Amino acid sequence: MLVTSNHLDVGVGSGYYLKYYLPQSTKRIALLDLNQNSLDATSKAINHFQPEVYCGDVLDPLELNVDRFDSISVNYLLHCLPGNLIDKGIMFEHL
Ligand SMILES: C[S@@+](CC[C@H](N)C(=O)[O-])C[C@H]1O[C@@H](n2cnc3c(N)ncnc32)[C@H](O)[C@@H]1O
Repeated sequence: MLVTSNHLDVGVGSGYYLKYYLPQSTKRIALLDLNQNSLDATSKAINHFQPEVYCGDVLDPLELNVDRFDSISVNYLLHCLPGNLIDKGIMFEHL
């Protein structure tokens, strides 16, 4: 996973990769997911990074009003979204 020190992870799941592979040099990490349970588990797993937590659906326009990120990961998220690649692709506009 390629991440900068100012990173947004979308579709966090259990936070496995963040927990084991997020560089210690990370200055800002934010989590975005539809599911509050996933956000709770992941933010707990990487609590020492003091993650920003956002609950939202990438298929809807996002209104986060926060500073921009230098990198965004969407690992294993696309297959969870309904529709064809055109439908799913709206996610990239929103992010
Ligand atoms: C398969 S898990 C990804 C796990 C994690 N990224 C990893 O690599 O281990 C998919 C995640 O995407 C989230 N998700 C599914 N649809 C979503 C949507 N429309 N907007 C935001 N998150 C969504 C699910 O709640 C779940 O946490």
